[in-house]
Amino acid sequence: MNLEDILDEARRDFAAAATLPALEQAKARFVGKSGAITEQMKGLGKLEPEQRKEAGARINQVKDGVEALLKERREAIQAEELNKQLAAESLDVTLPGRSAGLGGAHPVSLTLKRIEQLFASIGFAVADGPEIETDFYNFTALNIPDNHPARAMHDTFYLADGTLLRTHTSPVQVRFMENQKPPIKIIAPGRVYRVDSDATHSPMFHQVEGLWIDQHISFAHLKGVVQDFLQRFFERDDLQVRFRPSFFPFTEPSAEMDMSWGDGWLEIGGCGMVHPNVLGHVGIDSEKWQGFAFGLGVERLAMLRYGVNDLRMFFENDMRFLKQFA
Ligand code: PHE
Repeated sequence: MNLEDILDEARRDFAAAATLPALEQAKARFVGKSGAITEQMKGLGKLEPEQRKEAGARINQVKDGVEALLKERREAIQAEELNKQLAAESLDVTLPGRSAGLGGAHPVSLTLKRIEQLFASIGFAVADGPEIETDFYNFTALNIPDNHPARAMHDTFYLADGTLLRTHTSPVQVRFMENQKPPIKIIAPGRVYRVDSDATHSPMFHQVEGLWIDQHISFAHLKGVVQDFLQRFFERDDLQVRFRPSFFPFTEPSAEMDMSWGDGWLEIGGCGMVHPNVLGHVGIDSEKWQGFAFGLGVERLAMLRYGVNDLRMFFENDMRFLKQFA
């Protein structure tokens, strides 16, 4: 390579190098061990001392030129790479965000909240108890004798240690009365469990227990409280309640509660006057104190209020269903 051509060649080769490693390779052609400038230097030995000085100066000039081109190109490549990186990592803060969407309370939770508010407004406190219960609280203390069908395996989920999943909220009555002296005026909402599953039964569902114990509480109060509650729950002043004689071991007398709906009646729970044996179990003098208890099915109320016709919808967590309540 002629000395005169070196700068042009270097300019072209360096421009063609797109990356720093490629530039290093291109550099070797000029200033490397066998590069064009090194070759020129080697040729100096053949010259006379006078010419050698002048030629050496020219070679050095070219060499400085190549170094300058190299530096310029190196900085250009670095700047390009930095710009590429900045572009790749850039964040457009003006783009619209991806919204996570607002959640909403589950329809059963909404129903429980409404029930609690309505009962609170007439003086009922909220109590609760464990979902894993003993045979004693779920049955014995509620005057359910050993051979009662409610104890059979097909109704109750039994756990390995002999405890069970409560089959109703009535054990909360017992637990509350063990610890509190009358007068007592509570509701106890919560989950209950039964071995049962179809369009109208779920192995887990919710009940709300009611308990009002005082010295002059009668069946008439029960009917008044339940009817007032239902009328306000469904926002219908003409809603009627009727009682059908029934049997529960822990109430006497006992009844099933129906409410008017369309042309007919719908069953919404059980109730009765708390049995003297239950009061006796918890040390309350049944000659002095008496009162009523009831158990309402929460999903039943939610289905009627929201027009849901399959109970299972509440437990499948289908967003298309749940969104309608948000
Ligand atoms: N515990 C009863 C049931 O689950 C309902 C009930 C509650 C009945 C209170 C009477 C009094 O069916």
